[in-house]
Amino acid sequence: MTDLRNVTGASITLDSVVKRYKGQDKPAVERLDLEIDAGHIVAFVGPSGCGKTTTLKMINRLIEPTEGRIFIGGRDVTREDPDKLRQSIGYVIQSGGLFPHWSVAKNIGAIPRVLGWDNKRIAERTEYLLDLVGLDPGTFADRLPKDMSGGQQQRVGVARALAADPPVLLMDEPFGAVDPITRVRLQDSLIAIQHELGKTIVIVTHDFEEATKLGDKVLILSEGGHVEQYARPEEILTDPATPFVEEFVGSGAKLAYLTVSRVRDVDVDPVTTARIGESASVVIARAKAAGHTWVVVVDESGRPRSWPSLTEVASKPEVSDYLDRRLPVVAQSSTLNDALDAMLAASQGATLVTDGRGAVVGSLSIGSVTDVIQTKLAEGNGVAEEPSYETYVDGSDPTPTPVVAADEPGPA
Ligand SMILES: Nc1ncnc2c1ncn2[C@@H]1O[C@H](COP(=O)(O)OP(=O)(O)OP(=O)(O)O)[C@@H](O)[C@H]1O
Ligand SMILES: [Mg+2]
Repeated sequence: MTDLRNVTGASITLDSVVKRYKGQDKPAVERLDLEIDAGHIVAFVGPSGCGKTTTLKMINRLIEPTEGRIFIGGRDVTREDPDKLRQSIGYVIQSGGLFPHWSVAKNIGAIPRVLGWDNKRIAERTEYLLDLVGLDPGTFADRLPKDMSGGQQQRVGVARALAADPPVLLMDEPFGAVDPITRVRLQDSLIAIQHELGKTIVIVTHDFEEATKLGDKVLILSEGGHVEQYARPEEILTDPATPFVEEFVGSGAKLAYLTVSRVRDVDVDPVTTARIGESASVVIARAKAAGHTWVVVVDESGRPRSWPSLTEVASKPEVSDYLDRRLPVVAQSSTLNDALDAMLAASQGATLVTDGRGAVVGSLSIGSVTDVIQTKLAEGNGVAEEPSYETYVDGSDPTPTPVVAADEPGPA
């Protein structure tokens, strides 16, 4: 795998780590050895109670190991001051874990303040991080968590964990409490952030598909923190190490191509973009010259707002601003499975594709996705079973029919 990432993360090593809780006869984690490369994402999966959270919390010593040693960037952290250690490790939990009475900015600045940063530096860092996680600083810096959606709070949780620029980020089921579409967007922004910052990220999830999407490597654990397999997602899917893994992966293997193939591996179709306030006739001429029957209205950062047909554009002298909340959008880092889900959820035959910063780069049709899968299956390196993507291919017209729903309020 060619890896051109900029690495700022640190490696993590677990050396014969054991956790025995008081009053439990069996150890929660029994002699775990693990090597995590700097700048990589590792996803922990396994059945409930197998020791995922225990293992994660031993890394930042929210739980003390009973035996064994843990190294971060070669330093034995079992000998360090746990408070200091936790300031250098980002930690994100389900639902964000924000302080409810603190504004977003105050939440993000919590650790930098403890570290004695001056206000100007904290303010700059907060603005940078909000932008990084896709939240407009002007809109959100002064909000309270309760006035935000679950997905937005989760983004703030990630920003807060990154505040002091820690080399390691630990995440325990961070996207468990959000709807599937938001979840995909959060996963995509995590991948984009990781590529931009090169942190080492350990993420616990109970969702095998999420693990294969996010993890450079996936760690499959069984009871007692026993390692069933620790390998790249493709390897786990094509070559499960044990019957336990085979069963755990189960029907997921049928979707192997969809979950390990990325949108960026498929050619996207070009789109005509239009800026808010642009003259409708100019936009229509540009779209027609490109052979397009619809355009993508984008904001100043190139992020998509809506995809009106040319008829709709023609109904006003200028391109108007309107946020289509049902617009199907996936990132280049999304899997083909995510792309199909996005189309399905929006009842469209295509989805828009954005880069790491959310700017539109093209569109992807259901036909292109199924072509890719057919080709791969025909190549013979496919999964033997009947491909289950067929559930998506219902014979409906594969051309996108982007319309702004008539019942949605238009701009004034
Ligand atoms: N504080 C505790 N005291 C005693 N036993 C504990 C404690 N915390 C966890 N355990 C036990 O240790 C084992 C591992 O728990 P852990 O929370 O690490 O599992 P997990 O893999 O994160 O599970 P889940 O997917 O349900 O979150 C379980 O059997 C659990 O009951
Ligand atoms: Mg857990």
